[in-house]
Amino acid sequence: MRYKKHIFICTNLRPPEHPKGSCGQKGSESLRDKFKNKIAELGLNHIARVDSAGCLDACGYGISIVIYPEGIWYGDVKEEDIDKIINGHLLEGRVIEELLIKNERFKPEIMLNLEIEPLKNDRKQLSE
Ligand code: FES
Repeated sequence: MRYKKHIFICTNLRPPEHPKGSCGQKGSESLRDKFKNKIAELGLNHIARVDSAGCLDACGYGISIVIYPEGIWYGDVKEEDIDKIINGHLLEGRVIEELLIKNERFKPEIMLNLEIEPLKNDRKQLSE
């Protein structure tokens, strides 16, 4: 497996007058860059890949992020949440409950109980 985690960040940008709004309007490109830099700083970029996504069909919850392989959706993500997601979700394997998209369509109760493979040991191997 090339990457253990794929983090997709919606960077779709709609015109300001569009009724749906967009994650791009909320600063998702900058959030993606900071997320990417942090992953690289921590030596995780060989196992975790951050990519821009087009609209993830979660516009009302933007900035929207989905992390695979577990399929966990986070919404209303802000730059100050990056460390929480990297340390809690990626390194420790913990769902960040307060950031889950709570809409039933995203099955928050299932996401809450998913097993997440933590990357903390992979990180150690990289730094040895
Ligand atoms: S614009 Fe980001 S989910 Fe639709």
